[in-house]
Amino acid sequence: MYFKNAIAAAIIITPSFVSSYAIAAEVLTRDNGAPVGDNQNSQTAGPNGPTLLQDVQLIQKLQRFDRERIPERVVHARGTGAHGVFTPSADISNLTIAQLFKPGTQTPVFVRFSSVVHGNHSPETLRDPRGFATKFYTQEGNWDLVGNNFPTFFIRDAIKFPDMVHAFKPSPKTNLGDMSRTFDFFQHIPESTRTLTELLSNNGTPVSYRFMDGNGVHAYKFVNAQGQVHYVKFHWKSLQGIKNLTPKEVPVVQGQDFSHMTTDLVNSINRGEFPKWDLYVQVITPEDLNKFDFNPLDATKIWPNVPSQKIGQMVLNKNVDNYFQETEQVAMAPSNIVPGIEPSEDRLLQGRLFSYADTQIYRIGTNGLSLPINRPVTKVNNGNQDGSMNINHTTSDVNYEPSAREPRPQANHARYSVMPLTGTTQQVKIQKEQNFKQAGDLYRSFSVSDRKDLIQNFGGALAGADEQAKYKIASFLYKADPEYGAGVAKVAKADVNRVKAMAEQLED
Ligand code: HEM
Repeated sequence: MYFKNAIAAAIIITPSFVSSYAIAAEVLTRDNGAPVGDNQNSQTAGPNGPTLLQDVQLIQKLQRFDRERIPERVVHARGTGAHGVFTPSADISNLTIAQLFKPGTQTPVFVRFSSVVHGNHSPETLRDPRGFATKFYTQEGNWDLVGNNFPTFFIRDAIKFPDMVHAFKPSPKTNLGDMSRTFDFFQHIPESTRTLTELLSNNGTPVSYRFMDGNGVHAYKFVNAQGQVHYVKFHWKSLQGIKNLTPKEVPVVQGQDFSHMTTDLVNSINRGEFPKWDLYVQVITPEDLNKFDFNPLDATKIWPNVPSQKIGQMVLNKNVDNYFQETEQVAMAPSNIVPGIEPSEDRLLQGRLFSYADTQIYRIGTNGLSLPINRPVTKVNNGNQDGSMNINHTTSDVNYEPSAREPRPQANHARYSVMPLTGTTQQVKIQKEQNFKQAGDLYRSFSVSDRKDLIQNFGGALAGADEQAKYKIASFLYKADPEYGAGVAKVAKADVNRVKAMAEQLED
């Protein structure tokens, strides 16, 4: 009878009955599907008595509210996502068997842009690298290209990553952001000089996500049908161009809209102005690796003289319908690779192959890859089973492989490529560090006004560093480019002659 009434209510609430509703409304229910009788007044013991535990609607509503948050990402917490499509523009079957690059293919994508250090809901104006992570839902499984707007990274070995993030994040004692802690760390990391230059330049404060490039940063491997390997770097080039905020514009924009990057992306897609990026790739052979005066598998380096070829285009054409289910629950991971694309031996990337999937098992759970935003368009067919929140209804009793009853054949084309190895295990830093040259090249590539902004930003930040850190870091910048180092030293109120003398002691 009650159920019958509920259905009736859904049908009979019409404009004449409830004047503010234009269409028939569906009845309010609890999570068990049962209709709710009163959602405005808790059940109490008489007019003056306590609230009753038996009001299951009240209890469930509070319980669900109490659990609304999942752990925020340990980095890249503040993000914005959008859907789109990737279309290849060149036949690169000589380089890779990756199905998404086959001419005529169209691959749905989901992109999540982000800032890095600051928490969810932090102002998007805050200086940071920006994440540019793309999930390609290919016909051979999901491939995630988890990149940044900067083409290089601060460190080259994953073992330094937790310390670096701790040094960037607010103090564990005061919860205040404190650049002197950051510089205390980075005075020991000369390989960070190029990426710190990016960060303290106006590239650290983009106008919006549409107006920035993306970079895979690491070298990856393309593998072709013959099993031949090429090392490649990926780059997204914004067809909207590059636009950054100047230091004067930042507080103005922040005062008007501290979500300015999200606002711009969402509004432009809603207006039908769909942002586009071309995907470029740089390619070298394994034999080329030793021909550089730096290590091309070092994530603190770009490949300056290697030509780029355009291999496709991405357009973002749909905003998310549900921010939490799509943008918050998406799990981007460098370990999500597909046949034809493999990680290189880059030591930073090797650590990332473990870290993302690991944090995601904690953040969204063991079965997080079954969520609609994460599951592939292909069928998942293996013996992985059970675990918390499992929604994969399997009916087979063969949860092992090999099996004659239910064979799950392996795909020969998906075997990992092979590489020759010699030597012993070791814990030794890389050869050919070349910590400063590319930082100087980057500085000299900036316009005069961008150089001035960089010097003011860097010098202003460095002024608050401890004495030793101030001089060490200024000497790194001086080594990169004397004009740059001297300019920053002056703003930071450091003795330029001392900085110069320290720079002369540094190896190239
Ligand atoms: C060893 C070095 C690194 C480690 C251990 C690391 C670790 C992490 C972790 C744990 C997350 C959170 C993932 C999640 O909760 O879903 C994350 C997010 C992210 N990282 Fe890294 N990271 C490293 C280096 C890098 C580099 C070099 C890049 C750029 C090429 C990068 C780009 C990103 C992006 C874009 C996200 C956000 C992904 C999203 O939007 O969901 N990270 N990183």
